Amino acid sequence: MVLRMLSIEDMNITGKTVFVRVDMNTPIDPKTGKLMEFNRIKEASVTIRDLKKSKVVVASHQGRVGRNDFISLEQHAEALANFLGYEVKFVDDIFGPTARKKIDSLSIGEVLLLDNLRLSAEENKEFIPKDAAKTMLVQRLYKLFDACVLDSFPTAHRSCPSIVGFSELLPSCGGRIVEKELKALNKLLNVAKGICATVLGGAKISDRLEAIDTLIANNRADKVLLTGTVGNVFLKASGQLDAKLGIDDEVKYVKQAKKLLTNHPDVFEMPKDVAIMSNDSRVEVLIKELKPNDKILDIGSMTIDNYSRIIKSSGTIFMSGPPGMFEDNRFSKGTEELLRAMASSFGTTIVSGGHLSAALERIGRKELIDHVSTAGGALVLFLAGKKLPLLEVLDKSARKKIK
Ligand code: 3PG
Repeated sequence: MVLRMLSIEDMNITGKTVFVRVDMNTPIDPKTGKLMEFNRIKEASVTIRDLKKSKVVVASHQGRVGRNDFISLEQHAEALANFLGYEVKFVDDIFGPTARKKIDSLSIGEVLLLDNLRLSAEENKEFIPKDAAKTMLVQRLYKLFDACVLDSFPTAHRSCPSIVGFSELLPSCGGRIVEKELKALNKLLNVAKGICATVLGGAKISDRLEAIDTLIANNRADKVLLTGTVGNVFLKASGQLDAKLGIDDEVKYVKQAKKLLTNHPDVFEMPKDVAIMSNDSRVEVLIKELKPNDKILDIGSMTIDNYSRIIKSSGTIFMSGPPGMFEDNRFSKGTEELLRAMASSFGTTIVSGGHLSAALERIGRKELIDHVSTAGGALVLFLAGKKLPLLEVLDKSARKKIK
């Protein structure tokens, strides 16, 4: 079934109040608490600028509850204003009386950013759209809006109230990011050929594990090159690592990885060597030489060479999540070298997520990648062919209007 989606131009929203769900979730420097890059905020500004004739209420989540990146959106408001070149009001509230009063008093052309949506318990849960529409978050706000622009492509795989709830009650369309991503990805996937290699890294494991099976089944991953925490999970599952990984749900993930290794023995490539910290310096060791307290901070040179060779000889290469702690110069080699291999490959290249986008900019190779997506986990699931809640509700909204 072809997915349908309305655009901003299809909506009659001049002078109206519009709810805009974007994803400005950004890596935060653990030492300073400051935003580390601005890519998603810059992309969000494109959609918001196109709503200049409306009263605009912007909403996003940031980080996960209990983690160091779970912060208020005050800095995001400032960064967004810099990209827009005009004022962005900020309110440290989501659906309480202060936020509602501010929304009510907006004038045409004004932009108000609500605080981190995940301050609301409901936004940390997933719902079917009908139930999401009954949450307090949606019920307290929706009457203040005339329409809804859903543009949080990086969160397209989450069915939280702000993503699937409002569209049950309000006319909804996609924003510029969703349009741009879908157009670029569909075009690339239609021409993609040859061996498909997927390079997986980063710290988020559950989405990646969920997607691998489907990626392989849909011929989107002939080879999966593992790095980062997901690589450690597979090293443990294959019996090469003994130490505790120090992640939530470790036993469950290792069990899932074991099953994937048994079902697809020829698909996975794991690191043969890694970099650890010793006396404040980068030291490379073979996996079998690791000691129980060694913390893996990057892939090693042998692994970089092996993975680069596979990347350069593949027809389509998708990379999601950094292989190492690239923010620290001592451990950025794996991330930078694999991105250089992507940039010099003649295949179709897709790079996903804010970290890798920042690393590409740092090494000056962004222009050589076919598509740099704002999404991380959502993109893996999209490429795997999974149905994404955000795209489903946009489709439903478009069909309702066409009827
Ligand atoms: C992302 O960065 O992948 C999205 O913002 C989703 O964040 P989440 O994995 O915390 O839901």
